[in-house]
Amino acid sequence: MKVLIIGSGGREHAIALSVKKSKRVSKIYAAPGNAGIASVAEIVNIGVMEFEALADFAEKEKIDLTIVGPDDPLVGGIVDVFEARGLRVFGPRKNAAILEGSKAFSKDLMKKYGIPTAAYENFDDPKKAEEYLMHADMPIVLKADGLALGKGVLICNTREEALAGVKEIMEDKKFGSAGNKMVVEEFMTGREVSVLSFVDGNTIKTMASAQDHKRAKDNDEGLNTGGMGNFSPSPFYTKEIEEFCQKNIFQKTVDAMKAEGREFKGVIFFGLMLTEKGPKVLEFNARFGDPEAQVVLTRMKTDIIDVMEACIDGTLDKLQLDFMDQAAVCVILASDGYPLSYEKGFEITGLDRFDGRDDYFCFHAGTKFNDAGKIVTNGGRVLGVTALGNTLKEARAKAYEATEWVDFKNKYMRTDIAKSIEML
Ligand code: AMP
Ligand code: GLY
Repeated sequence: MKVLIIGSGGREHAIALSVKKSKRVSKIYAAPGNAGIASVAEIVNIGVMEFEALADFAEKEKIDLTIVGPDDPLVGGIVDVFEARGLRVFGPRKNAAILEGSKAFSKDLMKKYGIPTAAYENFDDPKKAEEYLMHADMPIVLKADGLALGKGVLICNTREEALAGVKEIMEDKKFGSAGNKMVVEEFMTGREVSVLSFVDGNTIKTMASAQDHKRAKDNDEGLNTGGMGNFSPSPFYTKEIEEFCQKNIFQKTVDAMKAEGREFKGVIFFGLMLTEKGPKVLEFNARFGDPEAQVVLTRMKTDIIDVMEACIDGTLDKLQLDFMDQAAVCVILASDGYPLSYEKGFEITGLDRFDGRDDYFCFHAGTKFNDAGKIVTNGGRVLGVTALGNTLKEARAKAYEATEWVDFKNKYMRTDIAKSIEML
């Protein structure tokens, strides 16, 4: 089988390594990929939003399966373009990817079908939002409706901050057209857990749980980022919580999408908050998380191609998903200054230390080859150093040990990824 992976981050590197493990796959392509993905796939120089060019490539090379990693092409309808040309593709169609593409849509869906989430109001008029906020309890949460690289959420402690937030999102359009609508949501407290799942339109099978660390600095200080590291499984996602979610959240979401005529096939990522009143949905993503894929897929034993084909064909109920008992921890090595401004183009050394090991992984995110053929930094998040261990504690110690193997100028990481589990 020939497989094309669309995307260029650590998530797509993790997907590529899983695909490589499949005995059914003879050749992997990645568009546009990165320097790490190049070690398992042939790089194709086409951007993720160039749908027709990607479909032309898939047709010409007789690709048997295309896997779409990022949210932008999914929300933009890449799956519909591929399907219209008779090409097999893994991911939700445009009318289902809206689950991630519009927060107002997902909130209304949860309300209509009784899926637990924070109380909210949707607004498309900034004046109405301001009036509402004059009387609302603080703190309060403002969310730009559309995709905003994970940055369109503002937690406002005072009325002044909330009013300034409306201006930023809806009037100044800091997040572009993502701010044409806005969700105002009740502020919740609790521990966050991510649960990834495969869905075939009817059946949902959850993968493993994970916990992200979104802030740039230790102790959850600093700005929100795409994710600075994570671990899987989450010990806070107990059997009891899992049962509650299976009954009240997971299957209900799949059924709700089907009832709306928006059959969902692909990956649903449930961002949950474990509140005092039980688990509630913070957000849905219509794809693997980054870096959630790095810790979840390294633990998956089932052939990823078998699972993805079962999702496309609607036969997921017949398939068993198996995961290793081992835990995984991923620490992101970033360029100092991320998520604001940072320098790039620095040579990365020590990458060969990961070669030939099956319990340490170095997933590339922002890397590329320079003109001299050396691997250099090319983004804010550069590498996702990941290790498996018999316990989370062991995986954590191994991941941090391996962060010392690689080096580049302006290397930055959080030192407290998965530290909370050591208090247990
Ligand atoms: P989201 O992109 O919706 O997951 O939001 C990004 C982050 O903002 C979440 O991971 C939470 O840490 C925080 N957040 C979002 N919604 C709420 C809420 N209603 N209450 C408290 N924190 C929230
Ligand atoms: N790590 C969070 C995300 O991929 O959205």
